[in-house]
Amino acid sequence: MDIRIFKNSYELSCAAADLIAEAIKRKNAVLGLATGASPKETYDRLIEKYNKGEISFKNVTTFNLDEYCAIPRTDKHSYFTYMCESLFNHVDIKEENIHVPDGNPENTEEYCASYDEAIKNAGGIDIQLLGIGRNGHIGFNEPSDSFTKGTYKVKLSDSTVEANKIYFSSNDKMPEYAITMGVESILNAKEIILIAQGKAKAEAVNNMINGEISPSCPASILRKHNAVHIFLDGEAASLL
Ligand code: PGA
Repeated sequence: MDIRIFKNSYELSCAAADLIAEAIKRKNAVLGLATGASPKETYDRLIEKYNKGEISFKNVTTFNLDEYCAIPRTDKHSYFTYMCESLFNHVDIKEENIHVPDGNPENTEEYCASYDEAIKNAGGIDIQLLGIGRNGHIGFNEPSDSFTKGTYKVKLSDSTVEANKIYFSSNDKMPEYAITMGVESILNAKEIILIAQGKAKAEAVNNMINGEISPSCPASILRKHNAVHIFLDGEAASLL
């Protein structure tokens, strides 16, 4: 594991964006993307690189990790909306190359299998961006008894609902379910960058790096992958 601790979130986001930009320059990259607070600044840095003419998304394909169920794609809380606002609307990516899971598929099982198939048909994910939950989740793979495989519908844990409900006003009910790529789908990526910032992540980060490799901390399985970068700020690294 390439573990790096940065002075501040600006430097962290520059380093993460540099790795992603390298992948984009190398080939018609397939990016695995994440939502939430952790990758937000990395997207800002990528937009800056695009505006400076350093990178183009014309031949880039993206697959997002997850999406909430029970809200429409166009809802202000959806991860599709987050991605449009945080990255897609600001770069030259082609709409047909964007993949964010459908949170309300007609046939969940068939849809989830087709999402994994689409990743495979695109040649697999070259570089996967991840955050980590306070409970050690990656994507929405919550702590459980076994590591998950492909894309599936998950019930969000109390810890995740607690962490994410700040984004929902009291009138907007936080969804209880989501469609997420499974742990195995994530591990299939050729390279992975996990970003963690802030004290609230310190325990999960320590469990991921120093704890048992166990589905009770889904991120711990990343230690089995041979090309993982863990980018932390001082607070997230404080228990290491
Ligand atoms: P956050 O979420 O980036 O909003 O902290 C990360 C996660 O839950 O995976």
